[in-house]
Amino acid sequence: MSKHRIGVLTGGGDAPGLNAVIRAIVKSAVGERHWQVVGIEDAFNGLLCEPRRLVDLNLERAKGLLPMGGTLLGTTNRGDPFAFPDGKGGFANRAAELAATIADEGLEGLIVIGGDGTQRIAARLMAEHGVPVIGVPKTIDNDMAATDFTFGFWTAVEVAADALNRLHSTAESHDRTMILEVMGRTAGWIALYAGVAGGADCIALPEIPYDVDRYVAKIRARRRMGRQFSIFVVAEGAIPLAGDACPRTVDHGVGQITAGGAGQALACALTERIDGETRVTVLGHLQRGGSPVPYDRVLATRFGVAAVEAVARGEWGQLVRLQNNAITTVPLADAAGEPRLVSGDHPLLAEARAIGIELGG
Ligand code: F6P
Repeated sequence: MSKHRIGVLTGGGDAPGLNAVIRAIVKSAVGERHWQVVGIEDAFNGLLCEPRRLVDLNLERAKGLLPMGGTLLGTTNRGDPFAFPDGKGGFANRAAELAATIADEGLEGLIVIGGDGTQRIAARLMAEHGVPVIGVPKTIDNDMAATDFTFGFWTAVEVAADALNRLHSTAESHDRTMILEVMGRTAGWIALYAGVAGGADCIALPEIPYDVDRYVAKIRARRRMGRQFSIFVVAEGAIPLAGDACPRTVDHGVGQITAGGAGQALACALTERIDGETRVTVLGHLQRGGSPVPYDRVLATRFGVAAVEAVARGEWGQLVRLQNNAITTVPLADAAGEPRLVSGDHPLLAEARAIGIELGG
C-alpha cells in the first residue's frame, strides 16, 4: 500500500492548543507511522490561492509547538470555499476547485481542526465533493454539542479567573463595582466557570436575560454587610430582560457576528440605580492568546492522536470528541449543529446560586 499523505488545516478563530494538536498529528503520523503531512495555511485559503500555500509538516517543524499559542498554519473565519469572497464584494462557490486541488496535491484526505462553522464546511466537502475529512473540534467557547470539552476553554477560564483576582484587590481598595466582560456570544460557559473560579458576586450569561434590579439588590445587600465593592462577570452576549441587545453587536454577514458592549450596557444600567463608581474591563482576545494550560495541552494531544488513528482505520467523515473522559468519534454530518448552551438545569448554576452568586434571573 502506498504511503499515506494527508493535509491538515486550522479554521475559524484561534484557540490555545491548536499547535498542540498539530504537533500530536505530526509526531504520531510522521514520527511513528512515517506518513507525509502537509500543512495548509489560513484554513482552506492555502489551497485556493496561487501559488498554493502549503508546508511540509515534518518533525523539525513540530519542535517546540506544545506550549505555543495561536496556530503555526494561520487561520481565518472568512474562507468558506462554498461562499468564497470574489474580490468584487460578492461570493463564489469554489468547492469543486478545492476538491480538484486536493487530488492534484496527492492528498488522501484532510484533518480539519475547527469549530462548528468549519466542521459544517468539512461535512459538505465530503458529502458534495467526496473529499475525505476527519474533524477535530475547537473553540474557546466550549459550546460544541458533540464534545464534552474543547481545548482552549480552560486556558480562557484561567485568564478570566486571573483577571478577576486582580480586579478584586483594586475594587476593594476603591469601593468600586467592577465588571469583567468575557467572550461568549451565545454560550456563557467562560463567564460561568470563570465567575465561580474567580469569586464573582454576580454573573450575566447570554442564556439568562438579566433583571438589573436583582444585581442592584445584591450590591445593596453586600454594602449592608460592609462589603463596599462588587465583582461582575458578563458574557459578551449577555442581554437585559428589558431593552435591546448590546448596542455594539455587528453582523458581518456570512454567519459572522462581533459582539461587544454588554459590560458597558450593564454598567450604564447600574450607574442609573446605585451610588458609587462602576468600571468595565473588556478582556477580549487576551482570552485566546498565549500558552495553553496543561488540561488543554493534554486534550489537544489526545484529539491529534485520535485523528491520526481514525485516518489509519480509514474512518473518514468522523469528528473526534471527548465523551465521558474517553476519546470517541461521531459522524461529522451529525456533529456540526446548534451550539451547546448553558441549560437552566446545569448543576453549576444551582451551585453558584447556593453560594450567593446572583445570576440576574
Ligand atoms: O468563537 C470564539 C470567539 O472567541 C468568541 O468567543 C468571540 O465572540 C469570537 O470568537 C470573536 O471572534 P473574532 O476574533 O473574529 O472577533
